Order: sequence, then structure tokens, then C-alpha cells
Amino acid sequence: MSFPGGMLVSDSRVDPFAMAEEAVAHLPRPEHDPVFSRALGQFVRHTGAREVLELGTGHGGSACWLATGLRLNGGGTLTTMDRDTAPAVAQLLRSAGVADMTRIVRTSRSYTWELMRLIQANTTDYRCNPQFDFCFIDGAHNWDTDGFAFFLVEKLLRPGGWLVFDDLDWTYATCLSLAPVDAEVARLMSPEERSTRQIRDVFEFLVRQHPGFDVVRQFRHHGWARKSGPQDSTHETRLIDELEAVNGDAAGIIPASRGR
Ligand SMILES: C[S@@+](CC[C@H](N)C(=O)[O-])C[C@H]1O[C@@H](n2cnc3c(N)ncnc32)[C@H](O)[C@@H]1O
Repeated sequence: MSFPGGMLVSDSRVDPFAMAEEAVAHLPRPEHDPVFSRALGQFVRHTGAREVLELGTGHGGSACWLATGLRLNGGGTLTTMDRDTAPAVAQLLRSAGVADMTRIVRTSRSYTWELMRLIQANTTDYRCNPQFDFCFIDGAHNWDTDGFAFFLVEKLLRPGGWLVFDDLDWTYATCLSLAPVDAEVARLMSPEERSTRQIRDVFEFLVRQHPGFDVVRQFRHHGWARKSGPQDSTHETRLIDELEAVNGDAAGIIPASRGR
């Protein structure tokens, strides 16, 4: 692989993500995908991100990789959000060596409320000052929550910052185990809603069509988008393609990807 300043795959004696890999080895799949999460950590590493946001901590697996990317950059903060009822992750983060760069935010109902608080805290003179370089959205997987979360995250993302949606194909109808609160949400949905790939719709109809995003890369299961910025995006776009190729998702690339 061709990127300087690190390696895309662990092909030598020293894998900078070894502690993360070891820490997450026991985590449940498919909730945690270590191959794609490594790619996310590498993206953070290679783009020099300092402030990262994650919506959907789960058991903390992807948080370990993202925060390792920050640690390799020399510092920064991962803010990771989930419900009060989510599993405890502090011990896992400690074992991955990244507890000191992770801010765990818990919420009684939804991260959309916590995002309001962040927007409020970052607002001066009626403007929200963006703070994040990168955001990974892997939480509710439904139109209402994540469609809205996208617009909130857009306010908090710096120009040139990237966001990634996981699980473009996820549906309520095919999910084998839902948390009680999610089962209740599903119960209120129509059969059409339950069988719709709602994150794909968020990505297709909200992200791709948003005038404030200038690069959109869509793979089989993941959607990447860059908030418009003055910097040239060639390096990052090529990095994403390489990471997704390592991840095995490149076969699913949608040729209509928008990239400038
Ligand atoms: C798939 S898991 C996250 C997996 C994790 N990102 C990883 O890759 O290791 C999704 C998480 O999102 C959380 N979640 C779902 N909807 C949410 C909401 N509206 N607000 C906060 N957390 C939510 C769930 O509690 C669950 O822990």
C-alpha cells in the first residue's frame, strides 16, 4: 500500500493497532467489524484527525480503533455516544490503551439530544462553530433518528471533514435481535418501513443530495461523504478506495460516486 506515515495493513512486525485488535478480539460480531473498524482507525491516522465523533458506541469496539488512530496522531479526543443502557466500555478502552482520549457520552433516549447540546455549546453569535474532523454513524439505523442526526452532524463537522455511515443495507425486518427500545420502535413501523434499508435512504436522499458535501463515495455497506472544504480531496479519496479495497467492499462500489 502506498500511503506514507504508516501502513494500511498490518504487514510487518509492528502493528500500530495491535492493542486495539487484541482488546476487541472477544467482542460480539456482527455488531463489531474489526476489519472495517481498522480501516476507520487508519483513516483517522492518515488524515491527521484530532476530533472524532462516533454515534453508537455499542460494546466499544470501533471506539478502540478510532481512538488508536488519534493516539498515533499524537493526541485528540473521540467523543462516543450511546444510550444509558449500553454496555460499560471503560475497561475495554483501558485495555486498548485509549481511555484517556475517549469521552463517553451517555443519553437517556437519543444522541440527537446530545448533539443539540453540542451545537448549543459551540454556538456564538448565532453560529455553530464546527469542531469535528470525522464522524462515524453506527447507531439507530433508522430514517427519523439518523436522517436528523446527519443534519445535526453537518453543523458540527469542519469544512473538509468526513462522515461515514455503516450498514447501508440494515433493516428492522432482517435484524435477528433488537434491544427492547428498538423493538418498540419497530412495532410502530409499517411493514414497508421495517423492510426498507433506511440508512441507504438517508445516504441517497439526504447526504448525496446535500449541497454542502463535495465528495461522496458509496460502497456496498458503507457511505463516505466530505463536507465541502478548500483542501484538495484527492489524497483522502484515494485512501478511502484503498481502505475499502483492503476491507473487501470495493467490489460493491457504486460507479455514480460523486467526487471532485
Ligand atoms: C451497532 S451498535 C454500535 C457498534 C459499534 N459502533 C462498533 O462498531 O463496535 C449500535 C449502538 O447504537 C446505539 N443506539 C441506537 N440508537 C441510538 C440512539 N438513538 N441514541 C443513542 N444510541 C443509540 C445502540 O444502543 C447500540 O449500542
